[in-house]
Amino acid sequence: MNILGIETSCDETSAAVLQDDRVLSNIISSQLIHKTYGGVVPELASREHERLIVSVVDRAITEANIQKTDLDVIAATAGPGLIGAVMVGLCFAQGLGFSLGIPLVPINHIEAHIFSPFIQETGSRKTLSEPFVSLTVSGGHTMLSLVDTNLHYSVIGRTIDDAAGEAFDKTGKMLGLDYPAGPRIDRLAHDGDPKFHRFPRALTSHSKTSRSYRDNFDFSFSGLKTSVLNYIEQHDRAFIQKHLPDIAASIQAAIVDVLVEKTVAAAQKHNVANISVAGGVSANSGLRMKMASACKQRGILLTIPKAVYSTDNAAMIASLASLKLARGITEKNSYDVPPFAAFRYPLRHES
Ligand code: KG4
Ligand code: ZN
Repeated sequence: MNILGIETSCDETSAAVLQDDRVLSNIISSQLIHKTYGGVVPELASREHERLIVSVVDRAITEANIQKTDLDVIAATAGPGLIGAVMVGLCFAQGLGFSLGIPLVPINHIEAHIFSPFIQETGSRKTLSEPFVSLTVSGGHTMLSLVDTNLHYSVIGRTIDDAAGEAFDKTGKMLGLDYPAGPRIDRLAHDGDPKFHRFPRALTSHSKTSRSYRDNFDFSFSGLKTSVLNYIEQHDRAFIQKHLPDIAASIQAAIVDVLVEKTVAAAQKHNVANISVAGGVSANSGLRMKMASACKQRGILLTIPKAVYSTDNAAMIASLASLKLARGITEKNSYDVPPFAAFRYPLRHES
């Protein structure tokens, strides 16, 4: 079965073709236009998706070495995301699917991140097995889920304010770094001292104010943002420039400590021997290293998808459709998903 996946929820225009669960192509066109504005401008994102969608889909089909008429199913992100951006991809998928007379599977973007560690490439071996704790960390979401069998999961924690990626991007912006600042902080942190300054780790064992952190798997990063702002205001420009790598390393350490502590604690509380990390922030080298070492110490198996499947991509959309179809979970002919409902498209199975 050939599945075309389409992803346009934020600032990546992406299309992928999967043959059953194998990735044949995964084209990702990242919109550079937002750099000038220091963040994603929703209207510009929609217009860019509209400009790019036809060529990106064509490239995905060509690279997969198939014809449009070989497609059996289309899967498209139906939300959550920027409403205009989601609409471009979903409407395009509806139009193409309708003209080809094939089923359309609407996919929840966050669920696609959660199940992205199951993506198969030719020759790859699937190691992740249920049950597992999934940490999904990106620019828009930070979520801990407990995944059991048959794609069933419950959300056990989420951010009560900013997402982890947002914390990287916004504190980086305060330091004068270009958008998205996450990868830039990561690079700078390589040459910095993570103990240079201790920024707050909210709702953890390190936090002075939270009394009952143990069973609290929620996250909070807004205090970190304020703390970085205050720190920058208290020091002159030359000092900040001189110690940029140290400050970046200290910010990264604060975010990573929280993510690792909570994820490992959740796995231990729920007696789970597998952890997966997905979403753009999973590309962070500090997070990868610290999570790997924490998991190794406790005999937990850690799975992190390749970077191309961690950041927004259409392979994860087609892959979740494939997993659902294989289990008979989805209604096949979902042309009745109105694009305007995409914004509030619900998370299934949420507890
Ligand atoms: O999953 P994603 O591509 O898009 C969303 O759904 O948001 O994630 C993008 C986020 C941005 O906040 C970006 O700064 C962050 O992932 N990110 C990183 C790294 N690479 C991407 N954050 C820290 N370190 C990185 N290496
Ligand atoms: Zn995402």
